[in-house]
Amino acid sequence: MQAKAPRGTFDVMPGEIFKWHHIEKTIKETAEIFGYSEIRTPIFEHTELFERGVGDTTDIVSKEMYTFKDRSNRSLTLRPENTASCVRAFIEHSVAGGILPAKWYYLGPMFRYDRPQAGRYRQFHQFGVEAFGSNNPQLDAEIISLLLQILTKLGLQDYELHLNSVGCPQCREVYRKQLVGYIGPFKDQLCADCLARYEKNPLRVLDCKVPSCQEAIAGFPYIYDYLCADCLEHYSKLRNTLDDNQIDYVHDNQLVRGLDYYTNTAFEVHIPQIGAQSAIGGGGRYNGLVKACGGPNIPGIGFAMGLERLLLALESLDDQQYKDHKLDVFLAVMDGKYEAQSVKILTQLRQAGIKADKDYNGRSGKAQMKYADKLGARGVILLGEDEMRRNIYTLRNMDSKEQIEVPADHLIDAIKKFLI
Ligand code: HAM
Repeated sequence: MQAKAPRGTFDVMPGEIFKWHHIEKTIKETAEIFGYSEIRTPIFEHTELFERGVGDTTDIVSKEMYTFKDRSNRSLTLRPENTASCVRAFIEHSVAGGILPAKWYYLGPMFRYDRPQAGRYRQFHQFGVEAFGSNNPQLDAEIISLLLQILTKLGLQDYELHLNSVGCPQCREVYRKQLVGYIGPFKDQLCADCLARYEKNPLRVLDCKVPSCQEAIAGFPYIYDYLCADCLEHYSKLRNTLDDNQIDYVHDNQLVRGLDYYTNTAFEVHIPQIGAQSAIGGGGRYNGLVKACGGPNIPGIGFAMGLERLLLALESLDDQQYKDHKLDVFLAVMDGKYEAQSVKILTQLRQAGIKADKDYNGRSGKAQMKYADKLGARGVILLGEDEMRRNIYTLRNMDSKEQIEVPADHLIDAIKKFLI
């Protein structure tokens, strides 16, 4: 047996988990401040949901899905993203009949079979939000500002917001014809994938990663120049709202995103210093997706952000700022005959909500102090002959090294005071 995690996956060891807790806490608090509630959907779904939702000519669906048959021969897929699952849940639970917009957020693992590199994994984690039931561009601005506020709260400032509109099905069809006409003469320079999809879905050629495809289509027409009046109005209202709220962005004519469901607003946030995979998050509107998946004609908008990329960006920040003391107090037993007594005290401390621990491996008194230090204890309670005889405990402050004596009957109160 090979004792190694599968390629493109990793363990978050207990020594690192505080970073995850820190970003997850910031994310959840911010999402709730903005009025979003958590939704949890299954890790796997019927394969068809992603084929239909994300689009079968996208890289995600055609190359990157973890698809398998279950014992009843159903085709299931580990979710490569969570928008399609939220749409499925929205329809399945008839949420459209309730109060709209429905504003949801999620945090969890996603799975894509891609070539692993820094910032790209096969199991990775996304935080995402989805809002159903309003086409108001102010909601687009809210979603963008939620993403940016999380970055700011985490201490990240060097980000770039890229914004575009990819239009609605009407203007997209006019644009599609133009694009097919433009790409036609360079067709034989395209990779096999692009050749297969250029007529069916030429927008996918625009975000192909193969350099020769990008060279072949250089100078392609921009969708922005084909937007219909309604789409232009939506986009300009969004830009005005961002301007009014001092949110900087770059209008990016080349931004089309790699998933098929987008309509109107499309955006990405990049942090250039994290390397080639600099897109920390991205999203946009998907006004036709609920209907395409068999639900009512309800608009939607959302984004997702990669937590691993967020952690990469935070690597340069000082760990100490978000490192908590792991333990409030350590119980050091200086005389073996008080072992049984120490278990009782430990139980009382924990019942009072105090993070407490003790040694289980027969360490000497000195070794217990070192161990307490390694565990990050703020204080140590010393339990020895003298203490027991006098019905007191000695409480040692591990930072200042000061020691005080505490009456045994007031131990919990004294520790709580000590921890303030
Ligand atoms: P996406 O652009 O495919 O969009 O992914 C969003 C974010 O997930 C990326 O910006 C990146 O940070 C992270 N990510 C994607 N793939 C990987 C990977 N292999 N390894 C590490 N991180 C990765 C979506 O998934 C859409 N569902 C976003 C959305 C929500 N649009 C509307 N609502």
